[in-house]
Amino acid sequence: MSSKRHILTAVAWPYANGPRHIGHVSGFGVPSDVFARFQRMSGNNVLMVSGTDEHGTPIQVLADQEGVSARELVDRYNRIIAEDLVALGLSYDLFTRTTTANHYAVVQELFTGLHRNGYIFSKTTKGAISPSTGRTLPDRYVEGTCPICGYDGARGDQCDNCGNQLDPIDLINPRSKINGETPEFVDTEHFMLDLPAFAELLGDWLKSKQGQWRPNVLKFSLNLLDELQPRAITRDLDWGVPIPLEGWRDQPNKRLYVWFDAVIGYLSASIEWAKRSGDPEAWRKWWQNGEAEAFYFMGKDNIVFHSEIWPAMLLGYSGQGARGGEPGSLGALNLPTEVVSSEFLTMEGRKFSSSRRVVIYVRDFLERYDADALRYYIVAAGPETQDTDFTWAEFVRRNNDELVAAWGNLVNRSISMAAKNIGHIPEAGELTDVDRAVLDASKAAFTTVGERLNRAQFKAALQEAMRTVAEANKYISDQAPWQLKKTDPKRMATVLHVALQLVSDAKTLLTPFLPASSNKVYEMLGGQGTWTGMPRLEEVTDSIGGEDGVSTYPVITGDYADNEARWESIPIVPGTPLKPPTPLFRKLDQSVVDEELARLEEAAG
Ligand code: MF3
Ligand code: ZN
Repeated sequence: MSSKRHILTAVAWPYANGPRHIGHVSGFGVPSDVFARFQRMSGNNVLMVSGTDEHGTPIQVLADQEGVSARELVDRYNRIIAEDLVALGLSYDLFTRTTTANHYAVVQELFTGLHRNGYIFSKTTKGAISPSTGRTLPDRYVEGTCPICGYDGARGDQCDNCGNQLDPIDLINPRSKINGETPEFVDTEHFMLDLPAFAELLGDWLKSKQGQWRPNVLKFSLNLLDELQPRAITRDLDWGVPIPLEGWRDQPNKRLYVWFDAVIGYLSASIEWAKRSGDPEAWRKWWQNGEAEAFYFMGKDNIVFHSEIWPAMLLGYSGQGARGGEPGSLGALNLPTEVVSSEFLTMEGRKFSSSRRVVIYVRDFLERYDADALRYYIVAAGPETQDTDFTWAEFVRRNNDELVAAWGNLVNRSISMAAKNIGHIPEAGELTDVDRAVLDASKAAFTTVGERLNRAQFKAALQEAMRTVAEANKYISDQAPWQLKKTDPKRMATVLHVALQLVSDAKTLLTPFLPASSNKVYEMLGGQGTWTGMPRLEEVTDSIGGEDGVSTYPVITGDYADNEARWESIPIVPGTPLKPPTPLFRKLDQSVVDEELARLEEAAG
């Protein structure tokens, strides 16, 4: 395929309510970056966007607990999260936040378009008020027993134990978190998204994905269609995007529901990226070109929002639900091509939990170990299609056996032998059948690995790439070039040439997974320019939603389009000078396992 595809890589927006742990980044982070890097190497036009998800009840609750404003809290975690994602090497074209003025404007435009087309209607429901003051009790201040799982600390908006969305009135024994009194429920008006108006279209769309999407994701999404109900998209809350309608805009305790605003982030961030790139219309190539593709990456608790609610919003805005309508002022928008969801990662047999301190934050991890080692583990042993358990023993084993002993050693012995005995990349003499076979297999891997990456089968892709590493190691051991130095130096040069070509190919095949160490191998082989681009933080000053003036905050961006990395076997150039290499990866001592387990025990208490 020679024509360039436009591929939106839409990455779930992490909540700015704390630092992210390795379970989070195994769901949305690493898989999306592997995919985006591969697609760029294949010559496609990738736009990879995301940001911090900064509204909603949990953030306001936490800010209240800490005695800071929600704004202060999200400013703090936006920065920490952005720094951590950069350290992991995630190549966002733009990683922004949901509190920008641009995001507010795009969210309000989507609401307005959906409302105008008749897909949003208002409904009077029962909302909580405090009987002693007569004031609205925001959802987060109502607590009680979950009607679904029986957990006693459920909040008015959601149960943190079973994860179900709730309404305050559903709670058994509801009470005010402020003073313990029993709230009174009075009529209150909310807006609902008319999901049943999209049931048919969503069903046809999902069925057309049979055989393409991961089976778990598709099955889960199809099942959701059976109970499609109108869904409230506003909340009794003071932290969020205001409702853009006369009589609603200025109500202090009514805001759009956080999930309604967050999913629109994919679009608003694309628009912001286009503005920053100097071509404000450029986002349309990923959203309105009939051939453009959009891949969404997330953990499985996010599926409903991406395979049902967001597609319904896109259809409704585009005037395509059961009630028809006209596209809004931005024009008709594309549906996702694929919702790529991971399952869950557990931690040494337990659920990740920040509050119970069963957790390992990205930042702490990267203080002690390298980003590529974590990325490797997540792809090789992570929760791609089933829940998996992170164990330190397995992390150390994979690091030592697969990165250090297999790949690192291949790089090290090939380059150091050639550097020491020849000083540059040698010319190949006549090739034997064995030489040709191993080179052909290496070339063929670009097709097999590429097909898997294209289908978001990352684990299988990495296995195939690592198979070429094993074959190259076997080739060198069989050919034993060190024994040829005296007897047949020409043959030695040929073997080393073949070995270095295999190293160069393996480095290319591993680039989506291990970008930082692949850059090192590229340099060791005398490559010039940037092999694969790494993200950077940039401070920007811009207007903030719902506030006057401007604010300075970090975004992630980078230059990835003109990199040297290409998805093919690139012939090495004889004569290129070689220096003795430095080790690619660090071997970890077995004591790491005990140290880390002790750390976990101590923290979890
Ligand atoms: N903040 C959510 C989470 O961490 C994900 C939001 S994804 C988006 O689970 F689509 F809403 F952006
Ligand atoms: Zn529950």
